Amino acid sequence: MENQEKKPVIYSGIQPTGVITIGNYFGAVKNWTQLPEQYDCYYSIVDLHSITVRQEPKKLRENTKNLLAFYIAAGLDPKQNILYLQSSVRQHAELAWILNCFTYMGELSRMTQFKDKSQKHGENINAGLFTYPVLMAADILLYQTDLVPIGDDQKQHLELARDIAIRLNNEYSGLFKVPEAYYGKVGARIKSLQEPEKKMSKSDENVNAFISVLDEPAQIRNKIKRAVTDSLGEVNYTDDQPGVKNLLDIYICSTKETKEQALEKFAGQGYGYLKEETANALIAELEPIQKEFARIVADKAYLEEILKENGQKAAYNAEKTLRKVKKKVGFLEI
Ligand code: TYM
Repeated sequence: MENQEKKPVIYSGIQPTGVITIGNYFGAVKNWTQLPEQYDCYYSIVDLHSITVRQEPKKLRENTKNLLAFYIAAGLDPKQNILYLQSSVRQHAELAWILNCFTYMGELSRMTQFKDKSQKHGENINAGLFTYPVLMAADILLYQTDLVPIGDDQKQHLELARDIAIRLNNEYSGLFKVPEAYYGKVGARIKSLQEPEKKMSKSDENVNAFISVLDEPAQIRNKIKRAVTDSLGEVNYTDDQPGVKNLLDIYICSTKETKEQALEKFAGQGYGYLKEETANALIAELEPIQKEFARIVADKAYLEEILKENGQKAAYNAEKTLRKVKKKVGFLEI
């Protein structure tokens, strides 16, 4: 099971909460499927992270299977990528505890996601929500990761993971690879369709603000038609026109066109045409994935088998790092 040839390692994950948005797809999964074959890739379903916000157990199990089925439907072959469940590899929680003892309250207090989430879930500001980025650092560092393909919103967490790695390396030398972020060309930040200054989020109360990768064509058309633009009436790719820029990003992510080609296509056209073509392109992009998803998600035994097999592979490699860390910090080997 051990990797004979040492390839660079890629690690990323998604929380199995709510729907999977096109932000998750374009910001993360689509890039994962396009990364060259010369990497060892780990893509987890981070269920330990998801319970920092209350989850209904039955729904969590369903979302977990859906997310795995989506990974595969989107093009991640479970024979070539380690697709696994975070909670099935106990090394994550164990390393997270150790890293907690090397992370400062001040660092965690500065995390914008913690500030946002504690505002949103004021009734449940639990310790897990606060130490969430430490568990994320453990995920990444356990596998001696080189590259972490993520959306822009996870940048601060990745920087913290790097700081923690460097801190431990300074104290114990040679413990962890210091990981780098990897962002796709576009799509690192898909915005809300209703408030295009904010990121598209599955937890948005307004369902017109986000598109699920499983939305029907009519829903997609409808949401894009209602997307907030501006009164300028000109298609430009600029931060001064965040709604139009976001539609262009979705269009570019859904086609093979470059920004320049897209701008040429929409030059002199109105927003109606931009919206129509964006909806068409997105529907065409998602249609084959949705078909595959429906087929795969029905096969529960297949999905469980993948999680079991890949979880064992992940645990085997995670244990190598954990053992080294425990030894270096001074735990007696028994
Ligand atoms: P999560 O589950 O919130 O999001 C999963 C991935 O989707 C990206 N993403 C977006 N990208 C572009 N535009 C958007 N609107 C958008 N919304 C979400 C996120 O950046 C992310 O890449 N903490 C992580 C999960 C995690 C993880 C890890 C990631 C846990 N451990 C280790 C990488 C490595 C999270 O909550 O992602």
